[in-house]
Amino acid sequence: MKALVCILLLLETFVFVVQQQVDGGLNENEISQQISSEDRRQNPPQTDTLRAEASTDSQQNSHPCFSDIHAALRELTATVTEQKANIRELTATVTEQKEKNRELTATVTEQKTNIRALETRLMDAEKAAEQQMFLLEELNKKNDEISNLSQSQVEELRKENRDRKIAFSASLLASGSGDVGPFTTDITLTYRNVFTNIGNAYNPITGIFTAPVKGAYVFKFSVHAHGSQSNAASAYLMKNEKHAIVAFAQQAQGALNSSKGVVLILEVGDVVYVRLRPNGKIQDNGNNHNTFSGYILFPLR
Ligand SMILES: *[C@@H]1O[C@H](CO)[C@@H](O)[C@H](O)[C@H]1NC(C)=O
Ligand SMILES: *[C@@H]1O[C@H](CO)[C@@H](O)[C@H](O)[C@H]1NC(C)=O
Repeated sequence: MKALVCILLLLETFVFVVQQQVDGGLNENEISQQISSEDRRQNPPQTDTLRAEASTDSQQNSHPCFSDIHAALRELTATVTEQKANIRELTATVTEQKEKNRELTATVTEQKTNIRALETRLMDAEKAAEQQMFLLEELNKKNDEISNLSQSQVEELRKENRDRKIAFSASLLASGSGDVGPFTTDITLTYRNVFTNIGNAYNPITGIFTAPVKGAYVFKFSVHAHGSQSNAASAYLMKNEKHAIVAFAQQAQGALNSSKGVVLILEVGDVVYVRLRPNGKIQDNGNNHNTFSGYILFPLR
């Protein structure tokens, strides 16, 4: 109740003071007197207790409300001081934050630089990866080529190996014993007793070997006979139409032999066979004295 009255009084006084200030200005005592007179007007004598208290206050501050005003002002001053401190603190905080921001900006700039560097490195890495891919493709291609090459080489070697399987060996008589010759002209000997004929390049019906592949071939043949004054044991090894080598043996008595060998380069289709010379005579039996053999040494390209 007292506070409410004081506030009302204060307001009135304030308005009055302002008016006085506007009108010409009053000192504090004059204001106090004014307030006192106002107080007397506002508080009639019937409120004794209030008046007593008010007069006690007025003895100290001219008016009881001034102590409240002063207290409020002190409080305000304290608040302002506090706020100033707060502002200083805030300013310090702001300065600190600005410093931090500068630091952060520097860090961001640095990070941007780092990112750019990383991007460059990434691009380089991508380029390198592309190059690697290209090289890998090249390698794969090369690998394919090598694989193809080795495949074709393997195929060629297989073919060569197949081609290499050429070997034959045969003796003159299929069975029994007997003479071959003499004849007035030379004749092709047909070796009927086949020991081996891998590749079937030798024909035991015609006595002719036909080269299935180009290559170096080994041929061997032997003649055997009983001694005779008029007939030699003699035969040619023929390559196509030409004499290559000859086996020859002649004596009046006893068994006689001749054995020869040769390496010939043959083209595909070249023929090799043995021809008994005119007037020549050979003999054979179950011991197989007369043989004709051949095999490929190695194929040629
Ligand atoms: C390898 O051989 C395959 C099949 O014969 C063929 O398709 C491919 O093009 C060849 N590659 C190369 C690199 O020669
Ligand atoms: C010829 O070979 C036979 C065995 O096949 C042998 O008995 C004979 O003595 C040989 N003749 C000569 C002259 O070497």
